[in-house]
Amino acid sequence: MTTIDIDISTNINAIKLDSCIMNASGIFCSTEKELKNLMKDNYSGAVVTKSCTIKKRNGNPIPRCFQWKTGSINSVGLANLGIDFYLSFLEKQHLQKPIFLSLSGSSFEETYVLLQKTNPYSDFISAIELNLSCPNILGEKTLLGYDFHNMPYFFDKLFNLYNNPVGIKLPPYFNEYDIEKISSILNKYPVYFVTCVNSLPNGLFINVETETIVIRPNKGFGGIGGIGIKPFALSNVRQFYNYLRKDIPVIGCGGIKNGKDIFEHILCGASAVQIGTQFLIEGITVFHRLLFELIELLKNKNYFSLKEFQGNLKQIK
Ligand code: DHB
Repeated sequence: MTTIDIDISTNINAIKLDSCIMNASGIFCSTEKELKNLMKDNYSGAVVTKSCTIKKRNGNPIPRCFQWKTGSINSVGLANLGIDFYLSFLEKQHLQKPIFLSLSGSSFEETYVLLQKTNPYSDFISAIELNLSCPNILGEKTLLGYDFHNMPYFFDKLFNLYNNPVGIKLPPYFNEYDIEKISSILNKYPVYFVTCVNSLPNGLFINVETETIVIRPNKGFGGIGGIGIKPFALSNVRQFYNYLRKDIPVIGCGGIKNGKDIFEHILCGASAVQIGTQFLIEGITVFHRLLFELIELLKNKNYFSLKEFQGNLKQIK
């Protein structure tokens, strides 16, 4: 019997990933135990850390996260151990596997301090994933990712100040004009990659039996992940792939539950994918299952590598 070799490796700029699948920031990547578990997993190609701040944060009151069969809602409130913990953890790992350190300042100034703090550790970090889609950035009512006016000022200073690889994690956008506009801003800077999308903000899930909300913070409103957001994730991946400079890779995130979903993200142009809700539901074995399903699908379709179909979504003739 001959075995067919399917190459599921990929590149995010100069970072080589043995597998195109990784965790999404926020899911089981906050503590040393969770991060070690991800580091030693053989099927995910990189590790993304929980978005961190300068100081440790306990986050919002529990329950702050809730999952059902096909989705999730969360208002975690940036619970994290503080950047010093993540930096000292990463220093001990010696980049056994590509690592994306997720940062989430609650103001421009905090973000600059976070970036400067990472400087002495650049040998232990593959790239920063800067989270512009976290609630309450700027102390304002909008996410920085929706603040088109301030974004250029923010990037001007950021890319002047900081020379190591920085990718940007974006919230979902709901019209093409916004994506074209954000892309034209991002295209002016040495952005290392773009991850889209973060959870759909401001959703509500209800328990009919108790007639209550399911998470305590913010009157039950929170970020939505899971199968329902896939069409929005795909449209964002596709449009960013079309509008961004060709040297800015897109990492797809949103609604991935099986190998076919990964195929769809890559067909839209993603270079790699992140798993959030399904990792929450299924745990660490999700990466093996997804990789296996992706490989089976590629075999059936006679593809031997991602490059053969990445971005090749067809129109109807
Ligand atoms: C949190 C939620 C997010 O969607 C995000 O991008 C960062 C942080 C949180 O509530 O912890």
